[in-house]
Amino acid sequence: MQHHRLDFQVTPGGTITAELSGPRDKSISQRAVIMASIANGTSYINNILNSDDVNSCINAMRALKVTIEKNNNDLVVYGVGKTGLQSPKDTIDCGNSGTCMRLLTGLLSGQDFSSELTGDSSLRNRPMSRIITPLEQMGAKIIANNNKPPLTIIGSKNLQAINYKMNIASAQLQSSILLAALYAKGDTQVTTPSTIRDHTQRMLTQFGCKLQSHNNSIVLHEQQLTATDINIPVDFSSVCFFMVAALITKNSEIILTNVGINTGRIGALTILLQMGANITCINKRELSGEPVADIIVRSSQLQGINIASKYVASAIDEWPILLIAAACASGVTRLHGAKELRYKETDRIAAIAVGLKQLGVTVIEHDDGITVKGIGSNNKFNYNNIAIESYHDHRIAMAFIIAGLVADTPVTVTNCQSISTSYPNFITDANNIGIDVQLV
Ligand code: S3P
Repeated sequence: MQHHRLDFQVTPGGTITAELSGPRDKSISQRAVIMASIANGTSYINNILNSDDVNSCINAMRALKVTIEKNNNDLVVYGVGKTGLQSPKDTIDCGNSGTCMRLLTGLLSGQDFSSELTGDSSLRNRPMSRIITPLEQMGAKIIANNNKPPLTIIGSKNLQAINYKMNIASAQLQSSILLAALYAKGDTQVTTPSTIRDHTQRMLTQFGCKLQSHNNSIVLHEQQLTATDINIPVDFSSVCFFMVAALITKNSEIILTNVGINTGRIGALTILLQMGANITCINKRELSGEPVADIIVRSSQLQGINIASKYVASAIDEWPILLIAAACASGVTRLHGAKELRYKETDRIAAIAVGLKQLGVTVIEHDDGITVKGIGSNNKFNYNNIAIESYHDHRIAMAFIIAGLVADTPVTVTNCQSISTSYPNFITDANNIGIDVQLV
């Protein structure tokens, strides 16, 4: 979607006291749309995230001739069955969504037609060889532009199962292979190098699929999906911005309800607790096969830590805001083994380093991470008054808006229109919970 440029200014200080049920999960919403589309029968999806990325995914499935009715945050998806998708008339635009592009590439590999996927300038710069290699081993043909989108996917009715050991801890890669495996002869086995979000396995199970999972391996054979009803939990990655906002401001307390706490998503919770954060999860329960809880977060004096690289993947989307927390902590935080951050919506290691330096924080950028010297909880960032660039990355934009709460003067963050990919109500919610952030 095209948006006008949006720059925001945040006023430092304030106290956060609120109960909030934030936006619904972007990863789970897209999986629900894709699986409901190829299921047999009609699925009702409640509380879908109404954001640009999810809308790109809905429009993609509509382009493949699936009827999807949308009523605010609820969808009715008239599944066409596994072999009912039809050749799209035009190139499908995945917008900013890596999940949409990578999962659809797996799905389209098993069709008996060809299709073309493209995206915005950020997505057209993201590496696709990671999915092209296994999907071609299964029998699809994928033409890319120097391993980047646009992708032409020449599907095959004769996909073959593979046994694939991933060398990147990527849920998008794993999910892409699993969606192709639904069409492949034999048992496909996928093994990940570390714990990642397992939303695809959980969602496949909700749609009646049989799969085996053991440690970091999953085995899935060719099969059909049966329509079901899905209720989407709140996105941990989105509310994490306000968790850190409460931690770094004085006298704050926020209660976040219905938050997804999938083990592959909550590395940031473990890391913040290790840093001394006052966070409690209560009312643990399940929602459509996903673990959820209510999370209470109170102001805390954080300490810098050496981050264990085993948590990099399960906190993969939280690094921008975790590094803001590190910048507010006492002592040094060191992150290594996180080169994947350079291949996100922007190079997040570089973007965070630039912004933190503008806030007067001492940082050392590494090829695979960053070292941040925290200012300590009683001090303020010494902002150089030059607007901080978000590089059209929603999570960089939101992270630096939160960072502004502890600056010595108001902080401006530019090109925040990308926030609508994951959290369209972020600015409204921020103001409602006690953060003064205005359009400039
Ligand atoms: C996602 C997986 C992660 C994450 C992205 C969403 C998903 O990407 O960063 O925001 O929905 O599976 P990778 O699989 O590339 O790590």
